[in-house]
Amino acid sequence: MRIELNNAHALVCGASQGIGRAIAHELALLGCRITLLGRNEPSLRAVLDTLPPSPAGEHAYLVADMAQTAALADALTALARTPVDILINNTGGPAPGPAHEAATEDFEAAFRLHLLSYQTLVRALVPGMKARGHGRIVNVISTSVKQPLPNLGVSNTIRGAVANWGKTLANELGPFGITVNNVLPGATETERLAAIIRNKAAKTGMAEEAVAQEMKQEVPLRRFARPEEIAAAVAFLVGPSGAYINGINLPVDGGRTACL
Ligand SMILES: NC(=O)c1ccc[n+]([C@@H]2O[C@H](COP(=O)([O-])OP(=O)(O)OC[C@H]3O[C@@H](n4cnc5c(N)ncnc54)[C@H](OP(=O)(O)O)[C@@H]3O)[C@@H](O)[C@H]2O)c1
Repeated sequence: MRIELNNAHALVCGASQGIGRAIAHELALLGCRITLLGRNEPSLRAVLDTLPPSPAGEHAYLVADMAQTAALADALTALARTPVDILINNTGGPAPGPAHEAATEDFEAAFRLHLLSYQTLVRALVPGMKARGHGRIVNVISTSVKQPLPNLGVSNTIRGAVANWGKTLANELGPFGITVNNVLPGATETERLAAIIRNKAAKTGMAEEAVAQEMKQEVPLRRFARPEEIAAAVAFLVGPSGAYINGINLPVDGGRTACL
C-alpha cells in the first residue's frame, strides 16, 4: 500500500537537533504530522515552532530518555490513540574510543540506547501498523554497518546489531505492508560530527579545520553531508516512491564507503 505523506503521522526520535531534526522538517514539508521525541523539552519545543504546518494535524513532541526503556514504553502510551504510520529510529551515537578499551558497561549502554529502545518503539507501534496494513520504519544507523570506522569501537559493534535487527524485521513485517530500511549516513554536519572532530583534534594536536579537511579527503565528493541530504533519503524511503524498497542498507555518504 502506498503511504500518502500528507495524511501520515510520523514519530521522529532524536529529533531535537542534527539528522533527526532535519528528518522531522523534511517529512513535515511533505505534509506529515510529526511527533518529535527527545530528552530536552526546550529544544523539542524550539524545533516544533519551526516545523511547517501539516494538513494531517498539529505537530507534537514527547519527552523521553531512550536509554530508559521502561519509561520510554510508558511515554509511548500517550500515542496509543493516535496511529503512527512512520517510525524513525534515531538517537545519539556512542562515545568514541577503541573497542578493546571499552568497558562492558559501555557496550550495555549502547545496546540499551540503540537496540532496546528501538525494540520498545516497535513493540508499541507495530501492532497498530499491522492492524492498518501499512507502515514505514527507518533506522538511522551509520556506514560502519558496512565498514568499521576508526576509533568508534562500541558504535561499530552496535550498528551491526541494529542493521541485522532491521533486516530481520523487514522479513517479518513485509507481509503486513510494513517496510523496514536502514539509512547509513556518512560524515554529516551536526553536533555529533563536531564532537568527533574536536575529539580527534584534542588527541592528535591537529587543528580542528585540518582534521575536517583530512576527513573530507576520504569522501569522493570531498565534502560532508548536510543533514537535509540524509533527510531526503529517508523521505524517499517512506514516501510513495519507496513503496517497494524493503530490507536495505542505504549509505548516504558521498561515496566514502569503500565497498558496495
Ligand atoms: N553526524 C554524523 O556524521 C553521523 C554519521 C554517521 C552516523 N550518525 C549517527 O546518526 C545518529 C544521529 O546523528 P546526529 O549527528 O544527528 O547526532 P546528534 O547531533 O548528536 O543528535 C542526536 C539526537 O538524539 C537525541 N538523543 C540523544 N540521546 C538520547 C536519549 N537517550 N534519548 C532520547 N533522545 C536522545 C538528541 O536529543 P536530546 O539530547 O535532546 O535528547 C539529539 O536530538 C546518531 O546515532 C549518529 O551516531 C551520525
